[in-house]
Amino acid sequence: MIITIDGPAAAGKGTLAQKLAAKYNLAYFDTGMVYRAVGIDLIANGISPDNIVGAEESARNMTFSKMQELAQNPDFRSPIGGQAASKVAAMPKVRELLLKMQQDFAKKPIAKDGSVVAGVVYDGRDTGTTVCPNADIKLFVTASPEVRAMRRHKEYLQKGLPSMYEDVLAQTKERDLRDSSRAASPLKPADDAVIIDTSDMGIDEVFAKVCRIVDEKL
Ligand code: C5P
Repeated sequence: MIITIDGPAAAGKGTLAQKLAAKYNLAYFDTGMVYRAVGIDLIANGISPDNIVGAEESARNMTFSKMQELAQNPDFRSPIGGQAASKVAAMPKVRELLLKMQQDFAKKPIAKDGSVVAGVVYDGRDTGTTVCPNADIKLFVTASPEVRAMRRHKEYLQKGLPSMYEDVLAQTKERDLRDSSRAASPLKPADDAVIIDTSDMGIDEVFAKVCRIVDEKL
């Protein structure tokens, strides 16, 4: 069983994907991590995330274990990591170099507890369109930029990171624009995706709706 969940930043994809993975005993792959890993790898080596040659070199040498190591960097989940990820994610060759790593994960999916399981929940921007076009269930989860920026802002504050709502809103809009206007694998729903707008929905409501879709498929 392969489930893809795509959509803009802070739409609620990650929480939903992890709940689904736990309920249906599936692995979880947060594909934003591969782009954050390249972005942080560059910053850690004093290279600008706008540097195409550096980004391609980093993507060419990226592995799962290197990505997990880079995820320990305090900037990995911060706005710095997010902005750097969105810059390298707009480079077509970088996307191409990171594609196989994402697709291979479904061949032997490993769950959180280390066990090999029967499927994956992918979370990203192009997992239903490019990474797994043959997925069993495709979801496109979205919400208004204001709602998403407020969620991210609260998340940063909870983690003790400095945050201003207006700045987070501006960054959210900037990333949306870059993600949906790039030439390679732009952010858009797959033709056969179910679109879920979470602006006025709590996570429990979204989860219940998606579980009905999965149960029907099973
Ligand atoms: O989801 P997350 O915020 O971690 O993603 C960081 C960035 O990586 C996104 O803004 C987007 O530019 C990029 N990304 C992508 N394709 C994916 C996942 C993430 O382009 N499948």
